[in-house]
Amino acid sequence: MTPDKNQIAALLDRSRARTALLTDAVDDDELGRQHSPLMSPLVWDLAHVGNQEELWLVRDVGGREPVREDIDHLYDAFKHARKDRPALPLLDPAEARRYLAQVRAKALDVLDRVRLVDEQPLLAGGFAFGMIVQHEQQHDETMLATHQLRTGAPVLSAPPAPPGDRRIRGEVLIPGGAFTMGTDTDPWALDNERPAHAVDVPAFLIDRAPVTNGEYLAFIDAGGYDEPRWWSTRGWEHRNNAGLTAPLHWLQAEGGWHYRRFGRVEAVQADEPVVHVCFFEAEAYASWAGKRLPTEAEWEKAARWDPETGRSRRFPWGDEAPGPEHANLGQRHLTPAAVGAYPAGASPLGVHQLMGDVWEWTSSEFHPHPGFRVFPYAEYSEVFFGGDYRVLRGGSFGTDGSAVRGTFRNWDHPIRRQIFSGFRCARDLAPELA
Ligand SMILES: [Fe+2]
Repeated sequence: MTPDKNQIAALLDRSRARTALLTDAVDDDELGRQHSPLMSPLVWDLAHVGNQEELWLVRDVGGREPVREDIDHLYDAFKHARKDRPALPLLDPAEARRYLAQVRAKALDVLDRVRLVDEQPLLAGGFAFGMIVQHEQQHDETMLATHQLRTGAPVLSAPPAPPGDRRIRGEVLIPGGAFTMGTDTDPWALDNERPAHAVDVPAFLIDRAPVTNGEYLAFIDAGGYDEPRWWSTRGWEHRNNAGLTAPLHWLQAEGGWHYRRFGRVEAVQADEPVVHVCFFEAEAYASWAGKRLPTEAEWEKAARWDPETGRSRRFPWGDEAPGPEHANLGQRHLTPAAVGAYPAGASPLGVHQLMGDVWEWTSSEFHPHPGFRVFPYAEYSEVFFGGDYRVLRGGSFGTDGSAVRGTFRNWDHPIRRQIFSGFRCARDLAPELA
């Protein structure tokens, strides 16, 4: 389970190839442009991944001289809000690419020389390298969301996702009782996924698949966006202020609903999980459907708990890393896959597509697990605990398999929907059955 140096180098290569794909796809002028105040210009993300790699692998782990200490402040995500980043004296694309290559050469040299020993927490299991791999992949997903927000001709392409299976529908009963949430053993798990701890989750029902466009359309057609009773007070207020009438990137055209995906306008596919909805929309749909969103613990139990052994798996299908047969991850496709497309990725209890396709909103706010310890820095998670966030789980088609697990926790503001966010519903057991 612990990756060796060759595997680490291969994962560093993989994230860099993806960064190059996303940034080579547009010209220099566009790299410096901001497509939404929610997003950085792509050229900022580009140099920022290099800067984090320099800080952690070259300077901290390697103990080497700084490469470009002068630019640290420009690429500190806590110093400049995304909307202010285009005005900074950023490295131009050619400089940024040179900088990344320089840093990478040094990082690989450090990898070659260090011993990945348990005595040093940053090196145990190659953690610092894993953190940098995941960091770059997370920015790649953010850059993919920026691509989805840009206007103009399409520049990205990918083969279509595998076909679905309409038989995968309905709900699964998750029996009550304790399960192990979080992890102590996953070498690259981040601090907020730790430690492993027992959580008692009463029996509940969870959808076997994420809510589809077809199901969501029924909510729209039933006037769901115009009925305050389905919405929370805050949700309704936001629905009105933002003028929400459909998921982001949807448009009504001749012949029905369409969406714009990476520059292409296509008819909405009924069998695909709905994507680009905010938490408030997910919550409103769930109450219209007579259901609710799962809590984070419910989601994780549905995804990881193996009733036969009583242990929690790394992924719904087992402990092995995601392959193309398990889940729609890694930008292999540019859309969620239809429901039922990944039978090999189902959980022991028959819940499908928990990993990949769309990030799934849960009803939970972002709090530390009991026994949480900051590692290696407070700005990774601790400063966000207790804020106005909801937890999302499972990763999307834009999440790389190296940057997500059954324990992985993502969080965002409940109004955000430029991310690849969808959801599935859950329900309490009828009292006579519970
Ligand atoms: Fe970052």
